[in-house]
Amino acid sequence: MKNTPQNIHPIFEHLLQRTDKEKLLQQHGVALWLTGLSGSGKSTLARGLEQRLYEQGILTQVLDGDNVRTGINNNLGFSDTDRTENIRRIAEVAKLFVQCGIVTICSFVSPTIAIRQLAQQIIAPQDFLEVYINAPLEVCEARDVKGLYKKARAGAIPDFTGITSPFEPPTAPHLEIQTNLQTPEQSVQLLFDFLLPHISYRS
Ligand code: ADX
Repeated sequence: MKNTPQNIHPIFEHLLQRTDKEKLLQQHGVALWLTGLSGSGKSTLARGLEQRLYEQGILTQVLDGDNVRTGINNNLGFSDTDRTENIRRIAEVAKLFVQCGIVTICSFVSPTIAIRQLAQQIIAPQDFLEVYINAPLEVCEARDVKGLYKKARAGAIPDFTGITSPFEPPTAPHLEIQTNLQTPEQSVQLLFDFLLPHISYRS
């Protein structure tokens, strides 16, 4: 039988709200959006911050290229259209986590202002904290953790951010972390200190 408003059992009438879940978790949901060049340190800091928050009893979800581009977005490449679709889906997923009261750490190059604005609009501006993970291109290239810059310079990877595809730095991020000027531990501490007031439970 199809459920109509007339025959829904009263117990199902009250849809649990975000506030119910935030009360359960004793925290507030928010999306921390880490943007920056490949090799700038986004994934390292996302993992470090998640560990730090876990130790404080805060529930998190990290979304980054490793768990998104190999799964839900495994049909997408790096054209402008595909990057936009990548970020659109990620933002929709992040929104679900945030609505559930979970601190959602999103670690994506998200290279243009327009792409990040799209994410912000989908998630909701008041739930979106933009963090610029900033390291000079030369530093990212020297690190070349995945060997991708070398390949991009050799012409083996088209549209590589910073080399053959643009990166537009955020103009007014909520926070900027310069990963070439401090240790990862110091960067995680800055992120943690910045985030804490946004997620600490207020009834
Ligand atoms: S985004 O531009 O769509 O936001 P995303 O963060 O998902 O990118 O993925 C970036 C990661 O994919 C990089 O850290 C790098 O390891 C890898 N990658 C592979 N090809 C490219 C490319 N052409 N440009 C940028 N990153 C690439």
